[in-house]
Amino acid sequence: MSHEIQISVIDREGLVHHLLAPTDMNLNIMEVCKIHELPVKGECGGMAMCATCQVYIESDHILPDPSDDELAMLDQAFFVKNNSRLGCQIHLHEALEGLRVRLAPES
Ligand code: FES
Repeated sequence: MSHEIQISVIDREGLVHHLLAPTDMNLNIMEVCKIHELPVKGECGGMAMCATCQVYIESDHILPDPSDDELAMLDQAFFVKNNSRLGCQIHLHEALEGLRVRLAPES
């Protein structure tokens, strides 16, 4: 049986996209954005090495703490805010129903 959650992604023009995302495929936010053809490059393929998947977390969901690799990448990235995360490091599961993120500007 497949499970899905809905997440909201605000693009760089301010448009809100409501995306359905399966929770049984270990997908991350970067991958779900690419599946829905949102302008997220994900250049490193999800290795926490490029920051082209940076998003701002706009809902109150509790997320796992960033890894040292994610923190190191965000340290070098542009447009980083307190609520910045690498989309490729956020894997989707049931508890993230209703998650709302905004795409960071492209650097
Ligand atoms: S896809 Fe490169 S850091 Fe996320």
